[in-house]
Amino acid sequence: MVVLVTGAGGQLGQALQFLAPNYPDIHFVFCESSQLDITNLNHIKQQFKQFKPSFCINAAAYTAVDKAESEPEKAHLINVVGPKNLAEVCKEFDTILLHISTDFVFDGTKDSPYTEDDFPNPTGVYGQTKSEGEKAIQETWQKHFIIRTSWVYSQFGNNFMKTMLRLATERDKLAVVNDQIGTPTNAVDLAEVLVKIILFNNQQPTTNNYGIYNFSNEGQCSWYDFANKIFEINNIKINLEPIPTTSYPTPAKRPAYSVLDKRKIKDTFGIEVKNWEESLRKTVNKINLKV
Ligand SMILES: NC(=O)c1ccc[n+]([C@@H]2O[C@H](COP(=O)([O-])OP(=O)(O)OC[C@H]3O[C@@H](n4cnc5c(N)ncnc54)[C@H](OP(=O)(O)O)[C@@H]3O)[C@@H](O)[C@H]2O)c1
Repeated sequence: MVVLVTGAGGQLGQALQFLAPNYPDIHFVFCESSQLDITNLNHIKQQFKQFKPSFCINAAAYTAVDKAESEPEKAHLINVVGPKNLAEVCKEFDTILLHISTDFVFDGTKDSPYTEDDFPNPTGVYGQTKSEGEKAIQETWQKHFIIRTSWVYSQFGNNFMKTMLRLATERDKLAVVNDQIGTPTNAVDLAEVLVKIILFNNQQPTTNNYGIYNFSNEGQCSWYDFANKIFEINNIKINLEPIPTTSYPTPAKRPAYSVLDKRKIKDTFGIEVKNWEESLRKTVNKINLKV
């Protein structure tokens, strides 16, 4: 079985590369942006003609949440046109598309976990383009899985955990917002779930379980709690101050609450979800070896 991965150099792409040796029956084709530009239909077709993938994981995206506010055209091209192109080529080659979306499609006004049926209402350009990317796939090709996730971190790429660890080497004091509530997601856990969905559907190809699914780690916290746990696990002593969002203005408005309800993905694929603190502990131990 061939699984083609776009955006292979990003955080999720690297997590998939890290896991690939555990799945010798899957022939992964990892394409970085220089090999496959998802905004270029011919690029995609060339790779699909060569490898004829049964599944395509789109790990490519424009993920600079604040920069997107001043680069809406670029964000639209990568997060809307790119996924639409992939869906078109997947349709041509009868390839199942797995696409990643975000908790930022929601406005954060709920106070209980968001389900897949909740109505998106993004508060910024990034969330808007990710929401439009979902719709473009839904309108183009039925054989898709859209996995909405949140607060992704790992030992790979750039993320909040690595930023906190770096800042702790530069400063004695840090202020982090404590009134945005969500759930951190380990990119390796997310990668593992994508592979599980592929294996599930490869074994039961007639099951029509396509659609949108939520996945994050279990539990919830604020960015302040997340930072606190990162420092605690690493035994880093730092003066950490909880602050309101109003004291840390950013170009893009973020949802105040974005916990995702994971019942659908658990019930459909028999997935067990690890607690965010347990997953963080494992990752921090890994990063310590690398820093
Ligand atoms: N990170 C989070 O906190 C978070 C939260 C919720 C959802 N998500 C979603 O999770 C998915 C994976 O995120 P991530 O954290 O792994 O992102 P990432 O680290 O920013 O990686 C994105 C990758 O996409 C590539 N890319 C950009 N434009 C491309 C193009 N036109 N064609 C092909 N590749 C292109 C980038 O390559 P270059 O660097 O070479 O441009 C990069 O390798 C995304 O869909 C994101 O929206 C992320």
